[in-house]
Amino acid sequence: MCGIIGYVGKNKAVPYLIRGLEHLEYRGYDSSGIAVMEGNEVITVKTSGRIKDLKNKLAGIDLTAKCGIGHTRWATHGEPDDINSHPHSSMTGLFTIVHNGIIENYLSLKKELLSEGFTFKSSTDTEVIANLLEKYYEGDMLSALNKCRRVLTGSYALCILCRDFPDTVYGTRKGSPLLCGKSAGGIFFSSDTVALLPYTRDVFSLDEDETAIINKKGIKFFGNDGESKEKKSERVSLPEQSADKGDFPHFMLKEIFEQPRVLKSTLDSLIKNGELLPDLRELKKSFFALQKICFVGCGSAYHAGLAGKILTEKIGNITCIAETASEFRYGNVPLDNKTLCIFISQSGETADTLAALLKAKEKKARTLSVINVRGSSIARESESVIYTEAGPEIAVATTKAYTAQLICLYLFALCFAHERWQIKRDERDRLLAELRLLPAKAQKIIDERDKAELFCSLFDGKDEGWFIGRGSDYASAMEGSLKMKEISYINTGAYPAGELKHGTISLLEKGTPLVALCCEDRLFPKAFANIKEVKARGARVLILAKEKNARELSDEENVFLLPDTPDEFSSLLQAVALQLLSYYTALKRGCDIDKPKNLAKSVTVE
Ligand code: AGP
Repeated sequence: MCGIIGYVGKNKAVPYLIRGLEHLEYRGYDSSGIAVMEGNEVITVKTSGRIKDLKNKLAGIDLTAKCGIGHTRWATHGEPDDINSHPHSSMTGLFTIVHNGIIENYLSLKKELLSEGFTFKSSTDTEVIANLLEKYYEGDMLSALNKCRRVLTGSYALCILCRDFPDTVYGTRKGSPLLCGKSAGGIFFSSDTVALLPYTRDVFSLDEDETAIINKKGIKFFGNDGESKEKKSERVSLPEQSADKGDFPHFMLKEIFEQPRVLKSTLDSLIKNGELLPDLRELKKSFFALQKICFVGCGSAYHAGLAGKILTEKIGNITCIAETASEFRYGNVPLDNKTLCIFISQSGETADTLAALLKAKEKKARTLSVINVRGSSIARESESVIYTEAGPEIAVATTKAYTAQLICLYLFALCFAHERWQIKRDERDRLLAELRLLPAKAQKIIDERDKAELFCSLFDGKDEGWFIGRGSDYASAMEGSLKMKEISYINTGAYPAGELKHGTISLLEKGTPLVALCCEDRLFPKAFANIKEVKARGARVLILAKEKNARELSDEENVFLLPDTPDEFSSLLQAVALQLLSYYTALKRGCDIDKPKNLAKSVTVE
């Protein structure tokens, strides 16, 4: 998704803007640009391509400005070319803006503005906002912004320069995040904490429809009624070095390696004096009355929700559903105060997940979110929050945040089942002891990563493949397939192993690469039978199984053995193995592992 940055200070703005954009690169983009206030004139430099292309365009231009805005664009409206890249200026150049979000009614607004004599250079929705500001501006920025707010539908986080106020940047938001931070070097706006980290850890999160004005005098906040308001900053505990690759060739590999530490620190943060999830004391009071739990998320977060649903249903003895947020938000599942909705999101800014949360709240459902970014929109809107202690996750393909989500959901299931008297204390403690062993077992898989490097030859010369599994292994198959798709661009599908004979198996060709997950003890014989079926039809199979099943599989080739762990938790270890499998496959194929094409780290638009 787009990233926006703003700066005002006593130093040259361009280096701060460029560094901020470099920290936002991980969000995924196809063009970038900056605009600075050089005296009373706004100078804009922008280009399609990477930040290095922008730096090349800036070379040789001496910009001394101390106030400016910047943008990395993930194209939603209009080609990813120079004209459509941000910043965008209003017709007379009075306003110059950068935008993250989508204006849903931009076409009707554009037609109206054209009929009023306004002209446009680009095909973006953002340029409509710039001209709207010019239309409504009569010398008072807050009034002009509020008039714009009344006619805009959709989402936006904006940083704005106005020629009438040369040392000032305006920031406002609705639906997309916007943060603000102050340091000795100056005052900043940013789409997320990662770009503020090098300067400050005290961060202000703008609320919906709020405006912040930054200039030499400091920061001022205003509500949509134009009244000034006080805000408290939040201390962001993310260590800056997390946003640095270190000696690793890719952020993704670094973040795979970080998992054992992240899993342990996440668990340690959620158990105090033997009490599980002490911060959920209020929510726990509702556990007996609950009749349903919905697990909601997008992409990998949805897969984590699916694994959480399977386990909570199994040991909590309650009806659970898992649904993608984009379906849930427009669906009709009955929601009431006897429903708990659990929203899973690494960024805490995914538009569909946020919208699903707001719908659940409207229906009076109880809400809990599993989030990696403190102060994010979903965290702030949720009744209760479980934080994953994964630190900044830079690679677009999630790894450490995903397994941290899993361990949070495992812990939630244990806590819920015990609080609802579905499992006794000794069973809870037995499973808890197994949970605590997961970081070391994940470390073992990482230490033996040469296995994954060997097995990835399964996909040599192939552009299609299958992942199959039963029960929680199917959730693992879905996540493994997504990882493979998003970084190696191999078109893999994930299928419930028991479903193959109902149609899909017709696609099987001789040599089709197929990853078969059979890590559920109670379903092992069935999963093994499916492996025989697909092998009989020519599939090249890689089996993921527990060490305990090594003997039964001794006649099979390509067996990736994982440390033994109860069925309840095996999806986490499978995830680590499949992350490595997709990493080495993508590496062999020379793919852009950390920034796959067309993908963004945080999808803050529908
Ligand atoms: C997974 O590797 C992807 N990066 C993507 O599916 C991601 O999990 C999804 O977009 C949800 O993002 P969130 O966790 O920030 O809400």
